[in-house]
Parts: sequence; structure tokens; C-alpha cells
Amino acid sequence: MTYRVIQWATGFVGQEAIKGIVQHPELELVGCWVHSDAKVGRDAGELAGIEPLGVLATNSLDEICALDADCVIYSPMLATDGEVMRLLESGKNVVTPVGWIYPDRANKRTLEIEAAAIKGNATLHGTGIHPGGITERFPLTLSALCRNIRHVRMEEFSDIRNYAAELIVREVMLFGKPPEVAAASPMLQVLSNGFLQSLHMVADALGFVLDEHTVTRHEMAVATRPIESPVGVIEAGTVAAQRFTWQGSVNGEPVITVRVNWLMDDGHLDPPWTFGEGGQRFEVAFDAEPPLAVTFHGLHPPVLGVDTEVGLTAPAMHCVNAVPFVCEAAPGIATYLDLPMITGRAPKA
Ligand SMILES: NC(=O)c1ccc[n+]([C@@H]2O[C@H](COP(=O)([O-])OP(=O)(O)OC[C@H]3O[C@@H](n4cnc5c(N)ncnc54)[C@H](OP(=O)(O)O)[C@@H]3O)[C@@H](O)[C@H]2O)c1
Repeated sequence: MTYRVIQWATGFVGQEAIKGIVQHPELELVGCWVHSDAKVGRDAGELAGIEPLGVLATNSLDEICALDADCVIYSPMLATDGEVMRLLESGKNVVTPVGWIYPDRANKRTLEIEAAAIKGNATLHGTGIHPGGITERFPLTLSALCRNIRHVRMEEFSDIRNYAAELIVREVMLFGKPPEVAAASPMLQVLSNGFLQSLHMVADALGFVLDEHTVTRHEMAVATRPIESPVGVIEAGTVAAQRFTWQGSVNGEPVITVRVNWLMDDGHLDPPWTFGEGGQRFEVAFDAEPPLAVTFHGLHPPVLGVDTEVGLTAPAMHCVNAVPFVCEAAPGIATYLDLPMITGRAPKA
């Protein structure tokens, strides 16, 4: 069985996904959507930095919908509900790292998207890594080894100097701005849309009935001297580290904590935050019997600022490897709780 796949957008994730599709024994790339005009008509393989694949990029949603394909890996910078609904209605399954990990089924928009999927006899699956792996799929798998689970923590420690997107790092994430400016960052809201879905999936699967109020917290540290970064110098006194926390409680007692630590960790921060000896990593830790703790290494570039696309391989592959399972799923929205175990593949023979 070969599944015919379209790659939607060729940013970091899209390029890693194209490489993954080509190497997956059950997948074939048959289409490619691009945002930038300069990429229209170019070969998808070349856009991904590999050999030409004979698949030319288009920026037309209509052309993509008209293609004979089983699935779209949808990884634009900004997701658009209308695009996703059109893709689903055209009969394409959609796998994406930009949302829908555990959408609120009481939400009108969710119901409309689900209706579009059912109309097209297609399935939508949200995945990724954080959220979309570390924050719900892996802790839930690991939870099966524990009893009496009192608390579970999922936490990211990443050096933001691996992210060279100046516009996003400075103007959206507000690194290098005074703390009072960064305090108004839209990031807490943007991130909450994803991480709170993970938190609720974990709560529902483990059987925690959460208090109505979920804690969301945004903390910052400033540079104590100018810090060199790929987006320019971060001046002393401006934001060089941010920590976002989401916490669900039962009767006021925290039971689930999700945290993101983004540091420019050169040892000159106030407060003096540091990754410590563990370095860049993801952690999942249970207060349970046994007190299971797992640390994930290898998901960050090994050398700061070099081969930074390594950090996007895992979220891209989580999408790619999900394709065969999503194509076989019942129409609608399918979360990790609905799909069988998603696995990677041995190299193509
Ligand atoms: N859940 C997770 O764990 C996870 C992990 C990583 C990334 N993500 C998400 O995945 C998405 C893609 O990430 P990325 O690293 O590939 O980002 P990226 O390198 O910035 O690429 C995104 C692509 O989106 C297209 N684009 C640019 N402006 C656009 C606009 N105004 N409207 C629609 N598309 C536009 C461009 O496509 P072309 O280059 O084809 O023109 C661009 O390359 C992001 O939303 C990111 O937040 C999620």
C-alpha cells in the first residue's frame, strides 16, 4: 500500500517532512504547496535540499484540492481553519503540527471542522513534539508503568539561540525587549492554545477532574551583559530568557504541570537561570509509584547554532509517520487517544 502525500509549506518542518516522505516505504510525494511566490514552480525535492522529485510547487489551494492524494502534511507558519476545512472536504486526510491535538469538542469551530472532515470522508490529526508528543503522547504511554499517579510534569529546556528567525524571535517572542514590553507578548496566548489541549488530554486520560481555573504563568530573565545571538546582540537589561507554565489542579493541588524554558543560556541572566548539567532536553517526570522520570536528548542541535534544522526533524517525522495510521482512521478528528501506536520505519529497502 502506498499513500499519496502532499506537503503544505516548505519551511523548516516542511523540508524535513519532504525528506521523511521520500524515505518512508509506504509514502509517495505527489504535491507541494508553497507560500512564497519565489518558490512557485520549483521542484519540491530541491526546495528541501535533496534531489529533484518531479513534483512542482504551487500556491493554489484549488490545484491542491484537485490532486488525487490521500493526505496533506499541513505545516504553514499560520494555520487557517478555512484551508484545513477545504482540504478535508476535498477528501484529503490532514496531519499537522499547528494545532488540533485535543480540540475542545464543545467548541462550535471544532464541530464545523469535524463536519468538514466527515463530509470529505477524511481525518484531521494534530501532532508535533511540544506540544504533540512530549506533553501528552509519551507521558500517557509511560503512565501505564505507574500506579497512584499524583502529579506529572512535562518540561522543555531549549536554547533560543538555535532559532535564527529574527522577526519571530525579536518581534513576536519579544526577546531583546524590556521586560514590561515582553510581558504583553502574545506568546502566552498562542502557546496556551496548544499546551492546554495537551494538559486536558492528560487529565482526561488519567482521570483527573481538574478545577475550573488552570494556572498560566509567564516569567522572564534579563541579560546582565550584552549576549551575542543569531538575531543580533541582546542588550543588558532586556529579555534573554522566558519561562511559560501551565498547571492543572484538583481541589487546589497541582496534578499536571507543563513548562517551557527558553533561555539564551550563556551564564549571564538575572535571575540566574541555567539549564545546568542536563543541557538542552525535554523531561517527563511522575510523582507516582514508581517515581518514573525520563529525559529526552538528541532532539536539539548538538552544537549551538549549527544544523539547527535538527530540532525540526522530530516534529516533522511525527507528522510523516502518522500518515498511514491517519489515512486508515475513521473520518473526523483523531487524537492519540483514537489512533493505534504510531511508529517510525526502517530504511527503504
Ligand atoms: N507542535 C510542534 O511541536 C511544532 C514544532 C515545530 C513547528 N511547529 C509549527 O509548525 C509550523 C511550521 O514551522 P516551521 O519551523 O516550518 O516554520 P517556518 O520555517 O517559519 O516555515 C513556515 C512556512 O509557512 C509559509 N508561510 C510564511 N508566511 C506565511 C503566511 N503568512 N501564511 C501561510 N504560510 C506562510 C512559508 O512557506 P513556504 O516556505 O513554502 O513559502 C514558510 O516557510 C509553525 O506553525 C510552527 O509553530 C510545531
